[in-house]
Amino acid sequence: MKNLKKQDPKIYNAIKAEEKRQEEGLELIPSEIAASPAVIEALGTVLTNKYSEGYPYKRYYGGQANVDIIETIAIERAKKLFGVPFANVQPYSGSPANLAVYVAVCQPGDTVMGQNLPDGGHLTHGWKASATSMFYNTIAYHVKPDGYLDLEEIEKLAIKHKPKLIWVGATAYVREFPFEKLSKIADKVGAYLVADIAHIAGLIIAGAHKSPAKFAHIITTTTHKTLRGPRGGMILVTAKGLKKDPELGNKINQAIFPRLQGGPHDHQTAAIAVTLGEAMKPSFKKWGHQVVKNAKAMANELMKRGLKLVSNGTDNHLMLINCGKGRGVFLQEALDAVGITLNKNTIPSDPSSPFYPSGVRLGTPFITVRGMKEKEMKKIANWIADVMEEIKDFQFPEKKEDFKIVIKKFRVFIEKNKKFKKIHQEVKVLCKKFPLYNK
Ligand SMILES: Cc1ncc(COP(=O)(O)O)c(C=O)c1O
Repeated sequence: MKNLKKQDPKIYNAIKAEEKRQEEGLELIPSEIAASPAVIEALGTVLTNKYSEGYPYKRYYGGQANVDIIETIAIERAKKLFGVPFANVQPYSGSPANLAVYVAVCQPGDTVMGQNLPDGGHLTHGWKASATSMFYNTIAYHVKPDGYLDLEEIEKLAIKHKPKLIWVGATAYVREFPFEKLSKIADKVGAYLVADIAHIAGLIIAGAHKSPAKFAHIITTTTHKTLRGPRGGMILVTAKGLKKDPELGNKINQAIFPRLQGGPHDHQTAAIAVTLGEAMKPSFKKWGHQVVKNAKAMANELMKRGLKLVSNGTDNHLMLINCGKGRGVFLQEALDAVGITLNKNTIPSDPSSPFYPSGVRLGTPFITVRGMKEKEMKKIANWIADVMEEIKDFQFPEKKEDFKIVIKKFRVFIEKNKKFKKIHQEVKVLCKKFPLYNK
């Protein structure tokens, strides 16, 4: 980055500081990953200079010979990896991909069903704060007290509301998705079943989670989570989807361009192609299985230490710790102080609110890229449990207005805590043993 360093030291220094933060800390946010150096190289290329509205060999501007090759490779790799006949690799990210699905198959005012946000669903599946609920009649389904999807409720709601589209997929769900059972419900009411596999795409390719390809009509995903790619999105249409509507692929293409987006981000497309190439290697399968093994090892150790996990464990890459009413923020901030990064998150039937949720969400994709295994997971789980123990006296106040006072006191406590300083040093030592990019 010699040009950047010379020309804009403020930005250069902030990037270098972020590199250091990622290198020296444990990233446990389950939607994050360390993309490979090859993926990052593809992102930082002259492809960012190009406009390519349209699709390969059907563009509006000239000079597309190289971009057409790149996008075609990305499409063909996506189709092969997920076993589907159609792929669009242009969505700027996961949320625009999901919006394009609505535009492709629904009319404004149509009814759609999705997993409730506090139960783990994503904003774009119809939550009230998302624009999707402005344009569509959105019905939420839930998980049962054991943390598994409530299939009985889903079937009842589907029969009652006759949705045009049912989403399956989530941002904080620790169990495998029952794609086959949901496809039966969707078929019964004539709905499109759309699997949003943003979180689990890499696990599916690795064979560590079931694929929805046989059961859903459409699949959407981000490319920057377990797929290990750059920020981006993809929409896939399955054979079942094309059987329901042979025009589905064309409708998706039109929804992305010209309805919602302009020119694709060609540098991102190239990086997605590189990502998909990496995901075809046998080492990717091994990595995906290790992600799940690591999550199970961490979950078991956390529970051994007395922490409460939603659904008492995990089937995938992520876990949700129930920290007590409104206490997610305390654990997030205390762990930040020791170099362990995760995010506060709602838990099913959260007694608090999405702004002051009662849980934290954590996962193993990023640290598995570093080469960490079960032994390290146990160590990390014990640090988390030690930190939790240390902050046990801090409770969410009865009156929300008192939160500012409590959090101020809490931050002073963190700042002065000697145990946290010791754990932070130990975290740095572990990270040094498992370098990220400084190999
Ligand atoms: C299940 C799911 N779908 C969609 C998205 C949206 O992706 P993006 O943040 O890239 O818009 C996310 C992001 O967390 C997600 O978890």
